[in-house]
Amino acid sequence: MPINNPIGILSVGHYLPDTIIDNHHFVDRGMDTSSEWIETRSGIKTRHIVSENQSTSDLAALAGTSAINHGAVDASVLDFIIVATATPDHQGFPSTACLVQEKLGLTNIECFDVTAACSGFAYALSIAYAKITAGIGSHGLVIGAETLSRLVDWSDRRSAILFGDGAGAAIVGPVETGGFLGFDQGASGHAAGILSCIHQSNTERFNGTHQTDHIPIIHMDGQAVFKQGVQVVVESLNQLFSKQSIHASDVDYVICHQANIRILESVSKKIGVPFEKFLTNIDRVGNTSAASIPLVLSQYHHDQFSKGDIICLVGFGAGFTWSSILLEWS
Ligand code: COA
Repeated sequence: MPINNPIGILSVGHYLPDTIIDNHHFVDRGMDTSSEWIETRSGIKTRHIVSENQSTSDLAALAGTSAINHGAVDASVLDFIIVATATPDHQGFPSTACLVQEKLGLTNIECFDVTAACSGFAYALSIAYAKITAGIGSHGLVIGAETLSRLVDWSDRRSAILFGDGAGAAIVGPVETGGFLGFDQGASGHAAGILSCIHQSNTERFNGTHQTDHIPIIHMDGQAVFKQGVQVVVESLNQLFSKQSIHASDVDYVICHQANIRILESVSKKIGVPFEKFLTNIDRVGNTSAASIPLVLSQYHHDQFSKGDIICLVGFGAGFTWSSILLEWS
C-alpha cells in the first residue's frame, strides 16, 4: 500500500578506515608535487585509505550498522538495501548490496547496486523515495561506499591526490513532518569521456607495488570536470529552487559532493547561498565519490541540524551525472 506520510531520512551513520595519509605522503613516495599545491588547488589535507583485507562491502556494512545503531527503527523493518558505488567488490555480480545484506545478518530483502559515480548516493535516495511512495517497501537502507584508492594509479599526480575511501549510510522511511521535498536529476552522456575508468597496465598501487595486469584506472580531464561540475550543479540547484518555489535565502545548508573546495566556493557564489552554509569535510577525507554526501550528513547532522532545516543535497560526477535533492530535516 502506498504510504501517506512524508518520506525522509530517519537516521544516518558512517565508517572511515583507520589509515589516514596527509599530503606529505605523496612527496615522500617520490611524486613531483607539494603539500601546499594539493591543499591550495583542491582543499584536501588528508584522506582515509582502506586496508588490504577490507572490501567495499565491509565499509558499507559498517556504515549501515552505524545508521541502524543511531536510529530509532529496528533493522527488521528494512525492506531493501541499495548500495551506490563505483568500486563494487565484484565486477558484474553479485551486487555489493547482497554482500552487505549477509554481513548485516539480514535475509530475503531486496538488494541492488546503483552506478552513477559521485551522484550515486543522491540517485539511490530518489529510488528509495520512489519505491516507498509507490508502496514497494516502507523502509530502505541506502549506502554510498567506495574504495577509490584501488582505482587510481598512485604514480599519477593528477588524480591520486584527490581520492579517499569511506562509506556513509541513511535509513529512509516515513517521517511525521518534512522529509524529501523535491528532486532534480539528469545526465549528459556526451561528456562521458572527461571522467572515466580505462584499463591500463603498469600502474602503481597504494602499497608501492606495481600492477602489471590491465586494471581499470581513473582517467580525468581535471579542468573539464571542474567546469562541467560547477555548471551542472548550478543549473540543477536553480531548477530545483524554481520547481519548489523557494529562494536561495530559504536554504539552511548545502551538502554538495566533495570534489574540490574551489568547486564548492564557485557554486556558492553563483547560486547566492553563502559559503558558511556549505558543509564540508573534503579537507579530512578528500573525494570519496558516492560516500561523499552521506559522510557529510553523518558527520554534521548531530551538532548542526534542527527539525525544519531546509537542506540541499547535490551530487555530480562521471557520466556526466547530477542529482539535487531538497530535504526538510525531520
Ligand atoms: N602537483 C603539482 N602539480 C600538478 C599536480 C600535482 N598534484 N597535478 C597537476 N599538476 C600540474 C599540471 O601538470 C599543470 O602543469 P603544467 O601547467 O606544467 O601543464 C599544472 O599543475 C596546472 O594543472 P591544472 O590541471 O590546470 O590544475 P588545476 O588548478 O585545474 O587543478 C585539479 C587540478 C585536478 C585539482 C582540478 O582541475 C580539479 O579538482 N578538477 C576536478 C576534478 C574532480 O572533481 N574530479 C572528480 C569529479 S567527481
